[in-house]
Amino acid sequence: MKDAEILSVIRTRASTRKYLDKLISQDIIDKILEAGIFGPSVVGAQPGRFIVVKNREMIKAIDAVMKTNAGKVGFGSGMMTYVAKIIESAPALIVVYNTRCVSERVKKISELYYENIKLAEFEAIAAAIQNMVLIAETLGVGTCWLDIPVLFEREINDIVRAEGRMVAIVTMGYVSDEPTQRSPRKDYSKTVEMRE
Ligand SMILES: Cc1cc2nc3c(=O)[nH]c(=O)nc-3n(C[C@H](O)[C@H](O)[C@H](O)COP(=O)(O)O)c2cc1C
Repeated sequence: MKDAEILSVIRTRASTRKYLDKLISQDIIDKILEAGIFGPSVVGAQPGRFIVVKNREMIKAIDAVMKTNAGKVGFGSGMMTYVAKIIESAPALIVVYNTRCVSERVKKISELYYENIKLAEFEAIAAAIQNMVLIAETLGVGTCWLDIPVLFEREINDIVRAEGRMVAIVTMGYVSDEPTQRSPRKDYSKTVEMRE
């Protein structure tokens, strides 16, 4: 793929928050996961773990947990119910975890590097997520990267039978042909500084 094509995928991708009632084949989901697995990671350790949830009852249970607890988070329940609806509408989710496989080892060796590596693990997982949302775009699958559900990590872990540190949920689904609203970006000059 040429640079212009990659940039075009990056520029046209947009978060999608409402999906058609259409399943995504395992073949397509596997391609998306492969893109995540092939992301860069600190010392090549791949600290991410991806739990794919297609089970409708589990998706509904996550939606219910968020709606039930919407009032408890201190910033109004609107945001929570908004995100719960995105999850409910999705035919598949990737619940992303940080296994902390590197930091747990480094902790015993260097307190200083431990602080660094904790951040590096998250960076590696974010790179994997970005790879997944981009390849999904090329496969015609819309996604939304969500951090709000992490507030209910304990409850969601019980639902999806997982342990550990949840980083995000990525919702996936086909979207209608309507053009997706693009979020504006800051000007180049407000984001980039040159030192020549
Ligand atoms: C780390 C992270 C967390 C996010 N969490 C949420 C979320 O909880 N709810 C939501 O609706 N969107 C969430 N988003 C999506 C952003 O709102 C979205 O990427 C941003 O507004 C830019 O829009 P675009 O993705 O359409 O370009 C998140 C994105 C990132 C990278």
